[in-house]
Amino acid sequence: MAAPALEISGLRAWYGESHILHDVSMVVQPGEVVTLLGRNGSGRTTTLRAIMGLTGARTGSIRINGVEALDLPTHRIAHLGVGYCPEERGIFSSLSTEENLMLPPPVSATDSGMSVEEVYALFPNLKERRTSQGTRLSGGEQQMLAVARILRTGARLLLLDEISEGLAPVIVQALGRMIEALRARGYTIVMVEQNFRFAAPLADRFYVMEHGQIVETFAASELAAKTPVLHELLGV
Ligand SMILES: Nc1ncnc2c1ncn2[C@@H]1O[C@H](COP(=O)(O)OP(=O)(O)OP(=O)(O)O)[C@@H](O)[C@H]1O
Ligand SMILES: [Mg+2]
Repeated sequence: MAAPALEISGLRAWYGESHILHDVSMVVQPGEVVTLLGRNGSGRTTTLRAIMGLTGARTGSIRINGVEALDLPTHRIAHLGVGYCPEERGIFSSLSTEENLMLPPPVSATDSGMSVEEVYALFPNLKERRTSQGTRLSGGEQQMLAVARILRTGARLLLLDEISEGLAPVIVQALGRMIEALRARGYTIVMVEQNFRFAAPLADRFYVMEHGQIVETFAASELAAKTPVLHELLGV
């Protein structure tokens, strides 16, 4: 059997002296869509950043496709086929959509990444906006561009931080279709979400964080049974 796309065990992480993650463990199989839920400040972004080697000290284990990544620098972690989409998106505002898409270097030796034409087939509205400057794009278009840019690198494990945040419902629906399209293409996705209604129909499995720890984990089939617990943990 193939190694898990991501296997975290006993992960602890710090920012300077602040101990943020306490014993985080999670396993994501290739092709799974997993959502990391939790209240503000529970440690979800820190978990994604720790996977990428962007926190301070870390201990424990983070295996990506079976390779231990804990002691690797961020660029080597990216080369294991991981793409991180931070909350702030990082679109270059003075460049056009297409120029933004031309920036990423391939990170994976085995997978050369989506061509710009493939990106446009998957995101027709980015094609319409190909010459528009980054600043002229709507929040939803910027979010799609941020994800599309990762697909250009050839990453197969996508770490997406609150992609639905602050976007209108119709845009959030379009992002949901994007996640479904990526799932159909076999991408492995770890989504941090506050918007439970967005995540609920998309994810195969859920993890819930509180105070830097995983406090609940369940499959999509258990969602109805877990709803009362989620109300309590998330206040949704
Ligand atoms: N650079 C940093 N330095 C020190 N502490 C930090 C830093 N970034 C985050 N923290 C702290 O780490 C804890 C977890 O933050 P994190 O950003 O992981 O939360 P989150 O679950 O993503 O929530 P949200 O995105 O709603 O803030 C919080 O207490 C936060 O104050
Ligand atoms: Mg966050």
